[in-house]
Amino acid sequence: MPVLLFKTEFASLPPWQAALRERMPELEVRLWPALGDAADIEYALVWKPPPDLFSALPNLKVIFSLGAGLDHLLKGVYLPPGVPVVRMQDSALTEGMCEYAVYMALRFLRRMAVYEAQQRSREWRHHLPQPRACELRAGVLGMGVIGRAVAGKLAAMGFEVAGWSRTSKRVADVQNFHGAGQLQAFLERSDILVCVLPLTEATRGILDRARMTRLPRGAFIINIGRGEHLVEQDLLELLEEGHIAGAALDVFAAEPLPDEHPFWRHPRITVTPHNASVTNPDTASAHVVDNIRRAMRGQPLTSVVDLTRGY
Ligand code: GLV
Repeated sequence: MPVLLFKTEFASLPPWQAALRERMPELEVRLWPALGDAADIEYALVWKPPPDLFSALPNLKVIFSLGAGLDHLLKGVYLPPGVPVVRMQDSALTEGMCEYAVYMALRFLRRMAVYEAQQRSREWRHHLPQPRACELRAGVLGMGVIGRAVAGKLAAMGFEVAGWSRTSKRVADVQNFHGAGQLQAFLERSDILVCVLPLTEATRGILDRARMTRLPRGAFIINIGRGEHLVEQDLLELLEEGHIAGAALDVFAAEPLPDEHPFWRHPRITVTPHNASVTNPDTASAHVVDNIRRAMRGQPLTSVVDLTRGY
């Protein structure tokens, strides 16, 4: 009987157990830290594992990340050589990211922050300019599974969309920019910038003063990648200087966002608590079980992480 170890901090076990049982009744699920006989465990589905967890599992065959991001798993955690790491691929997680990006882009387009402030002071002012979506250029930084979906939805809403990624990715209705050489041109044409990059040594701090200054004056930033992509102090300064109009931030360098952090009270920053989207056990369990069955049959796995690349 295959045995999977489940380790999380944000999802509770019962819905996962039910979803996995439905798809694979013969799978035994153990909840970390109760390993039982560790030699039984061949699969691990984890979020933020302790650094030495996998060294205690001599027969581990596949490590699954509970989230789309892999930084929780790749940094400082011992990974047994030869054991593949599989990233989360979940349609519901992707949909949630799209909803967040489209919602925040529309909030900016429709000046909702301004109207909400007006409502609070019972002010009836309707003369603000009302551009059409097609007059704004959205730029999606990171064109993996999530980035491509986000770009497609923004294009469907009428925005003029471009995507930037390390290597060239073609998506219908989305202008393609790639590589370090095209980053500047991409930023210069992005009125709304959505960051969905993976966090790697190459992308840490990518949204610093120099790069954010390349955005057109009055640009809006949506960060649903990782907090460490953005240099927070640089954003505050550029908001102050009026170069950046506002930001919707779901991820932060320190989470939970510390009490005294200036983002909490900033009138032009929307803060959400790293929940732009969450992995959904019902849909995500299909991906996990499919890969367990592949491993059991000796077939190639899907969504295997390239550990040298870091995503
Ligand atoms: C959440 O941040 C995830 O990586 O899925």
